[in-house]
Amino acid sequence: MVKSQKMGKRGRKETADLLIVNADELVTLAGDNQKPRVGKQMRELGIIRDGSLAVKDGRIVAIGKTYDIAKRFRSDNVLSANGKTVMPGFVDPHTHLIFAGSREDEFQMRVEGASYMDILNAGGGILRTVKETRKASVDRLATQGLGTLDAMLEYGTTTVEAKSGYGLTTRDELKILDAVRRVNQLHTVDVVPTFLGAHAVPPEYKGNTQGYVNLIIEEMVPRVAEKALAEFCDVFCERSVFSLEQSRKILSAGKSHGLRSKVHADEMSMLGGAELAADVGAVSAEHLLFSSKESLKAMAAMSVVAVLLPAASMSLMIGKYADARLMIDCGVPVALGTDFNPSCLNESMQLVIAFACYLMRLTPAEAVTAATINAAHAIGRANEVGSLEAGKKADIIVLNVPNHKFLGYHFGTNLVDKVVKNGRIAVDKEVGPSKIVHLEE
Ligand code: NIG
Ligand code: FE
Repeated sequence: MVKSQKMGKRGRKETADLLIVNADELVTLAGDNQKPRVGKQMRELGIIRDGSLAVKDGRIVAIGKTYDIAKRFRSDNVLSANGKTVMPGFVDPHTHLIFAGSREDEFQMRVEGASYMDILNAGGGILRTVKETRKASVDRLATQGLGTLDAMLEYGTTTVEAKSGYGLTTRDELKILDAVRRVNQLHTVDVVPTFLGAHAVPPEYKGNTQGYVNLIIEEMVPRVAEKALAEFCDVFCERSVFSLEQSRKILSAGKSHGLRSKVHADEMSMLGGAELAADVGAVSAEHLLFSSKESLKAMAAMSVVAVLLPAASMSLMIGKYADARLMIDCGVPVALGTDFNPSCLNESMQLVIAFACYLMRLTPAEAVTAATINAAHAIGRANEVGSLEAGKKADIIVLNVPNHKFLGYHFGTNLVDKVVKNGRIAVDKEVGPSKIVHLEE
């Protein structure tokens, strides 16, 4: 007893695989993270000034003031974050990661006045991407997905949700989810799969939406679940796509096969998708441009996360954004995502944070919460990521700015200096233009 105390005094230190020290701002988001954050909690970032953290075996083992961490740990790998901000890697809870082709000509049509729904109803939009994705092999889809994940990682995203939805046949939806599984295995970024067979009505079922809904319920959902290819079931609940009743049936089929619910809700009109999400106990509802106050209250009561996608709203070019302030006032937990897809081609959560501040008036602190811990809740990963706490994954970003308020304020540039993924440096801007480390195949 006495002996060990003496040894302690002599300074025998624990060894860490990596120490990050002297951060101007260490944004921990530590606290009671059992539930997503609401109201004023969204402004509480748990900032430690002159902060440090220790990493071992891919996990955070300790976090605190530099003085305390330096007393306890030694390491051969010490990163100085002097003058910098250290925070959890971004969690992007809404992407359509896997697809073939691009739609830059439709972008021009939209700039010139065509609406998103006009293009979709004329067989373009999602349906155009479906045509190209059906022709693509799993290999080609996975290769494109890996490239996108590289870009996301460079901007500081370490966990991503990925939806299917550009196949719309059983075979092609399974193919896309297979590509999602592959990129998750091959890339250091973690990818969480969502089945979105109900993304559009395919041309073969034009005028027979109910027939397609039956196919989803009777064939697709059971096959996806049997192969354990998805954790969530999502539906594009929208006028002239899937009605409230059809959406409810699809989500309930998903639930009975162990898939938790998500809803593309009230994006183009007030159909009631937000209420549906609350009603079925969905994990999240996304977009929510036209949701009523009553439906927001229903979401708050059920702790349904509102995943807001300002880049997607901007790409609609209707000058309308989700009412994030009202949501926060109503006690709805708010998260942010890119909605990366062929009509909203942006990988950067930093840009999304800027849009959230400028266009929806989230404060930088609220936007940081929305892009980390609340986003992790939206995809069932809050036990693992979204905050810097002992025991969690060492998914950490170092930003080349002295405090978090530069996120949003300094936009259109990449503020990332380093990305640490599973305890390893995955992006390092100091060693060259950029260096991305992949897991070995
Ligand atoms: O989240 N609204 C439906 N789905 C996507 C768009 C997909 C696409 O246009 O290809 C969205 O906005
Ligand atoms: Fe989407």
